[in-house]
Amino acid sequence: MIVAIDGPAGSGKSTVAHAIAGRCGLTFLDTGAMYRSVTLLCLRAGVDVSDAKAVASVEKDCSILFGSSASGQTVIVNGEDVTDQIRTPEVDRNVSAVSAVPAVRAALVDRQRQIAGSGDVVAEGRDIGTVVFPDAEVKVFLTADAKARAHRRAVQREGGDAARDASAAADAAQEARILEDLRRRDQLDSTRKESPLRPADDAVVIDSSDLTLEQVIQRVVDLMEAAR
Ligand code: C5P
Repeated sequence: MIVAIDGPAGSGKSTVAHAIAGRCGLTFLDTGAMYRSVTLLCLRAGVDVSDAKAVASVEKDCSILFGSSASGQTVIVNGEDVTDQIRTPEVDRNVSAVSAVPAVRAALVDRQRQIAGSGDVVAEGRDIGTVVFPDAEVKVFLTADAKARAHRRAVQREGGDAARDASAAADAAQEARILEDLRRRDQLDSTRKESPLRPADDAVVIDSSDLTLEQVIQRVVDLMEAAR
């Protein structure tokens, strides 16, 4: 079975997909981590992210593998654990330019299909239901109000558990910066020419603004059971 979870930045896709993978025994595929990895390598090499050719050649030469540690999934790029480095604000600011390069998308989509192979997978990203796995048995478009998404991210960055404590406080200035970044990234991701962020025609839209993590997971599990 393939479960596709798409949606805007900070909608909780990773948390939900990771939980589904653990509970239902599916392989977890975080496609955003792959675009982030290429972005990190470009930034380190001083490659201009608006130079499509140079960015594509960085992607061509790199190896991206997923591993696991006690605290969750790890991302190994060219043999180095970059799990934390791919989540910096600098990578956040540059990843949409990298992911808009058609050659990078084509190559990463190939890699994603190879990783999935013929196994059971829950994949999350922006184009899973529309492009990567258009025949996925379950397609979810997970969204939430931009302010709710920014708040959850801010709580997470401060080490809190936003999924379990929606009322946790976060630094207001930091939250405002995160909100601005999320809006900018959503705008770029949903207006690009190549595989823009949008729900597949047959996706079920779940708005998690007023739902707990557990309620969202349960809805996805219900959809999986209905598709079996
Ligand atoms: O999901 P995450 O926030 O880690 O994704 C980072 C960025 O990678 C997105 O803002 C988007 O530009 C890009 N992305 C994409 N297609 C995917 C997954 C992520 O374009 N399937």
